[in-house]
Amino acid sequence: MPENSMDKPNIVTCAAPVNIAVIKYWGKRNEELILPINSSLSVTLHQDQLKTTTTVASSRSFQEDRIWLNGKEEDITHQRLQSCLREIRRLARKRRNDGDPGLDSTGLSHKVHICSVNNFPTAAGLASSAAGFACLVYTLARVFGVEGELSGIARQGSGSACRSMYGGFVQWIMGKKDDGKDSLAQQVEPETHWPELRILVLVASAERKPIGSTSGMQTSVETSCLLKHRAESVVPSRMAEMIEAVQRKDFTAFAELTMKDSNQFHATCLDTYPPIFYLSSVSQQVISLVHRYNRHYGETRVAYTFDAGPNAVIFTLQQHVPEFVQLIQHFFPSDTNGGQFIKGLPVNSASISEDLKQAIGLEPMPKGISYIISTKAGPGPCVVEDPTQHLLGSDGFPK
Ligand code: DP6
Repeated sequence: MPENSMDKPNIVTCAAPVNIAVIKYWGKRNEELILPINSSLSVTLHQDQLKTTTTVASSRSFQEDRIWLNGKEEDITHQRLQSCLREIRRLARKRRNDGDPGLDSTGLSHKVHICSVNNFPTAAGLASSAAGFACLVYTLARVFGVEGELSGIARQGSGSACRSMYGGFVQWIMGKKDDGKDSLAQQVEPETHWPELRILVLVASAERKPIGSTSGMQTSVETSCLLKHRAESVVPSRMAEMIEAVQRKDFTAFAELTMKDSNQFHATCLDTYPPIFYLSSVSQQVISLVHRYNRHYGETRVAYTFDAGPNAVIFTLQQHVPEFVQLIQHFFPSDTNGGQFIKGLPVNSASISEDLKQAIGLEPMPKGISYIISTKAGPGPCVVEDPTQHLLGSDGFPK
């Protein structure tokens, strides 16, 4: 083989989804291995609206591992990146030593170039680290020819990333072992299970950057006895109830558990010392609106959940989306100036009755919400076959 064709990099591109927890992960029992103090459960969001795309190139001519994120070169020595690279290479070496003939033994010593982009703005405040690490691990695995259980490696990049390794409804089982081998994600139901379920991300106009989840949860573990109580005495039975609600497609049970769990997570943040506030006045207004909406109809039609930031993620059934979106537009009049207020899955227009407006009875908050991303449950990571989608050129550098 001529010298230069051997130097041509092996290039693989994959995409991975964002997930939103309905039973929250908050708190670690092991910082380095990223082992949680409780199990959690999430819905994987559809990649048509929210995804990370990652290209990995490997070549014997590369001098060192390098990474570019959203157009900018970042520090590859970052501990969590190193954990993922090390664990994938370890798995690949193990497979080769176990005698897998499919594995090209030279490739193992090759350095990699990694390039990753999101199809959504960082300002959307969605934990991009989950999709990012899931995509990194999934793509590296393809490059090094390893298959099978990978959520335990994604977990070591970011805890919530392990749940982005599967589509649909996913639980992260906390596990008991000190080495974390049993702390893995598992699909509860596929994305096709509940087609009527819709998800709306209400992007609140951010006032300031909130404290990150890694350090926030660390302080909570150190100082909040409510968090300890939650992990030990609340989450175990709540997980079982949530799995049952999902399996039965019982929206009322699903919605109530989702809201209660979000509220309890934010209560543990307030119980942290010094306290952490992720919910803004806009978030609080959304919470009131949802409860008044449900009360008006005498049934739970809509649920909210909030992560480590002010953006609400709304769950509802397809038939309620047009009216609820109209209501959001009424109580949070936007200044999009003809720009799109609703992105993602199309939403039919609807009118809202005076009756309903009065029942909600809140003072409108102009510009409180910048825009809405309308989406649904979606599949797990996948390979992007089209080579024109590679983020790295044939020289192994960002295009
Ligand atoms: C509030 O997974 O971002 O979104 O493991 O330190 O990387 P690290 O934290 P991360 O925490 C996510 C916290 C959460 C709840 C959740 O997604 O379950």
